[in-house]
Amino acid sequence: MDRWAGKVALVTGASVGIGAQITKALAKSGMKVIAIARRLEKLEELATNINSECNGKVYPMKCDVRQEEEILQVFKRAEEELGGVDVLINNAGVISVEPIIDGSTETYRKILDVNVLAVAICSRQLVQSVKKRKASGHIININSIAGHYAETIHSPVNVYCASKYAVTGMTASLRNEIVNAKLDIKVTSISPGMVKTDMVKEVVASLGKDIRDAFVDVPILHDVDIADAVIYCLSMPLRVQICEIIIKPHEALATKNPRPYAKN
Ligand SMILES: NC(=O)c1ccc[n+]([C@@H]2O[C@H](COP(=O)([O-])OP(=O)(O)OC[C@H]3O[C@@H](n4cnc5c(N)ncnc54)[C@H](OP(=O)(O)O)[C@@H]3O)[C@@H](O)[C@H]2O)c1
Repeated sequence: MDRWAGKVALVTGASVGIGAQITKALAKSGMKVIAIARRLEKLEELATNINSECNGKVYPMKCDVRQEEEILQVFKRAEEELGGVDVLINNAGVISVEPIIDGSTETYRKILDVNVLAVAICSRQLVQSVKKRKASGHIININSIAGHYAETIHSPVNVYCASKYAVTGMTASLRNEIVNAKLDIKVTSISPGMVKTDMVKEVVASLGKDIRDAFVDVPILHDVDIADAVIYCLSMPLRVQICEIIIKPHEALATKNPRPYAKN
């Protein structure tokens, strides 16, 4: 990570869960980290804790990634106050347990705005920032198993799987475009299985009691496991580009039903 020390990272959805852990890991590696989300108080608390214990520095900025103007403002501040953004972690994500077949259009729109459109907008701004400075960059998309194997997810998650398949496609398109434009920017997708965060709690809470009980003691990833994968990707030598990492919990550790989310 030495080459990123003192450089600027931007983490979306940094207030809790995986984004908060990634923010901490990047700051511990000596990066300046712009942490964005809607809950500024959570970001400020995170920044206070991290800044008191490591070399890096966390810059909390309130931003609703559904609002393009707010994203553009963050990149503008990053350029004015820190010189630009070198590493982008597209992590903000939302899910819904409303089935598609009787869900609301507003729910479809919210998921696609946060999980897909914001990824495109932030990636474009990162590329422009790096290109302008003739610098090196890295975009890491926090994708999901849901973006590769929708068939394995039987509980309703609305257009979440569709949004993550879009991230899989966008990651590949971005990488091709960047190669064509001869820019020094790597693009990586990290696709975790179930991670113990508020997002999973929301899905599990919505399931019937029998299914909920089946989730007790299932093997599950921790947010720090995903942060470790981010650091691994960024730490590779310049010649190495990690394109995709799929991370699953180790099912041998299951004490009850090893795969309660699969029907058979
Ligand atoms: N947990 C899992 O099992 C799992 C598995 C695979 C992939 N993932 C992916 O990992 C990423 C992080 O998920 P998580 O589990 O850490 O979820 P989480 O704990 O629910 O956190 C979601 C983050 O996204 C932010 N966010 C949501 N809407 C936003 C908006 N409109 N503008 C700005 N920020 C917004 C939230 O911040 P505010 O509410 O403060 O805005 C929060 O920081 C997501 O992309 C998710 O799809 C999760």
